[in-house]
Amino acid sequence: MANSDATTLHKPLGLLAELTHRCPLGCPYCSNPLALDKRADELDTATWMRVFKEAAGLGVLQVHLSGGEPGARRDLVEIASGARDAGLYTNLITSGVGITTRTMRDLWEAGLDHVQVSIQDADAVSADHIAGYKGGFQRKHALAAEAVRLGLMLTVNLVVHRANIERIGAMVDLALALKASRIEIAHVQYYGWALKNRAALMPTREQVERAAAEVEELRLRHKGKIVIDAVVPDYHARFPKPCVGGWGRRSLNVTPSGKVLPCHAAESIPDLEFWNVRDHSLEDIWTSSPAFNAFRGTAFLPEPCASCDRREIDFGGCRCQAFLLTGDARATDPVCHLSPNHGLVAELAEVQEDLAYAYRR
Ligand code: SF4
Ligand code: FES
Repeated sequence: MANSDATTLHKPLGLLAELTHRCPLGCPYCSNPLALDKRADELDTATWMRVFKEAAGLGVLQVHLSGGEPGARRDLVEIASGARDAGLYTNLITSGVGITTRTMRDLWEAGLDHVQVSIQDADAVSADHIAGYKGGFQRKHALAAEAVRLGLMLTVNLVVHRANIERIGAMVDLALALKASRIEIAHVQYYGWALKNRAALMPTREQVERAAAEVEELRLRHKGKIVIDAVVPDYHARFPKPCVGGWGRRSLNVTPSGKVLPCHAAESIPDLEFWNVRDHSLEDIWTSSPAFNAFRGTAFLPEPCASCDRREIDFGGCRCQAFLLTGDARATDPVCHLSPNHGLVAELAEVQEDLAYAYRR
């Protein structure tokens, strides 16, 4: 199999628009960077409109309006309307807190296509404890119900970790009761703030194995009623995931202040040069910015990836994880059982400590 290189330029399909880093919740597994963009540095409405038009011109089909909590932006409806006018399928990723039912109706009128609401647990007390926000559980319910009432497609996101992994079945029941069409079960990924809480969040191997079996059983039981998407948690997998579909290959991520990243955690890799939509067109950034070209393709990968048949499937795994665990962003992701550093992941997966969460504030 030939190594792909930076000259193989694919079209991006998805744009993650991080409208703000402001958020009312304090989730201990927040994957946003440690240094958050300030409100004063956020892109204005007109710039987001231009970005959406440029994204559509580049081939992007879907935009995910995300954050932080996108509802913290007063111009959210205008932004959503701009995304639709650019011809993009528009998805709102929300905590469900900070968006009123009135705003949800305005978003629907503006042409919003889809809503993703995260829930922390099926148990209200536990859910509010995990989010660090009292009353959040009820507000999420109300917002999800309003989205469905308006006829919007609803996906429920479940972020799974040691405190809620035993209640996946109950969380799927909750998503069904909310009339979600899809449920996305994702285990915590240990980047950004989540790294601080790794030992407090890490499930045991037995829990992960039971959860995987339960998800299979739930898929069969609810076939035709709800689509259940789930991925094996990194630290317990044999092979890494093709993170973001390959670096600079399928998606781009615009931060609240306009920096364009190949993935949401890319700023954790030092010395990468990110270009900003204030200074460059999105096309220019996609084709020529140093950060996007840093790990495009597979030619940079060392052994064992260099001679492995899976390198065009998983691209050697996640660059951010490779850097965080080995100090070398070019290395094989240590999640891979063939990585010389895999022992490190296996060791960390065994570390569970009953610590109080460090909330994101
Ligand atoms: Fe993927 Fe590299 Fe592991 Fe092969 S050695 S499976 S390419 S991470
Ligand atoms: Fe950055 Fe995986 S999170 S490449």
